[in-house]
Amino acid sequence: MDWGLKNRLSRIVQPKTGKTVMLAVDHGYFLGPTSGLEVARETIKPLAVWADSLMLTRGILRTSVDPETAPPIVLRVSGGPSILGELSNEGISVAMEDAMRLNVAACALSIFVGSPHEKENILNLARLVNEGTRYGIPVLAVTAVGKDMKRDARYLALACRIAAEQGAHMVKTYYCEEFEKVVQTCPVPVVVAGGKKTPEKEALQMAYDAIKLGAVGVDMGRNIFQSDDPVAMIQAVRAIVHKKATVNEAYEIFSKTKSKKQAPSKTGVGNTWED
Ligand code: 5RP
Repeated sequence: MDWGLKNRLSRIVQPKTGKTVMLAVDHGYFLGPTSGLEVARETIKPLAVWADSLMLTRGILRTSVDPETAPPIVLRVSGGPSILGELSNEGISVAMEDAMRLNVAACALSIFVGSPHEKENILNLARLVNEGTRYGIPVLAVTAVGKDMKRDARYLALACRIAAEQGAHMVKTYYCEEFEKVVQTCPVPVVVAGGKKTPEKEALQMAYDAIKLGAVGVDMGRNIFQSDDPVAMIQAVRAIVHKKATVNEAYEIFSKTKSKKQAPSKTGVGNTWED
């Protein structure tokens, strides 16, 4: 693996622990003003110092994150349809030159295996890997799910393996029963998405289980920024990922750190979609 690529990957997966806490705040690219991300800058600022990387779009990066203090950036470079359209109909939305100008640590693109556009998605992934390889930029494949698709180990393992076979350097997927099968059959590191908002302890349990079963970290969004206290929640997640904390220990960190401040999601003007 070339030096630049390795260097970028080690900005995401922390060499000290071999793990990573990625903060996903890219939801607006198809969900619009998602609950908790209505004013992205306000949500991201207090969380960024606790994140090993931020996963977001170039629009939010340019407008809502300060270049002087930003953690490593995983740039979402796929998009097209909104939540109201056919989600799998994505294309590559950012030129590799622009990603480089933004000094990204990696580019991220979704593949919807089993969807009407799976071939196009997978070939887009291959194209992104080709372009990224030219400049030493790793690619994170997001194994998104098509409507009506079951997020089970069989389907997610299929999607993760296909992503790795096409050259993705990391894969993001959902937690599921028999998650270890997904990880064991994927030859590149797997990070787990948080999924829709659940009570804090449940989300911590999911992160704990995923790490125990082989995930290299989390790429968590709503379960952090829609939490009653996002800053307390990301610290609790960090304790699980980087410090091998138990769920109870992490929940105690959450409870103790929880401040009296109102969470951004309580502005109440953002959309909440079940995806
Ligand atoms: C959507 C994404 C999102 O960034 C991510 O899955 C959302 O994170 P979370 O599920 O934790 O809110 O990649 O395809």
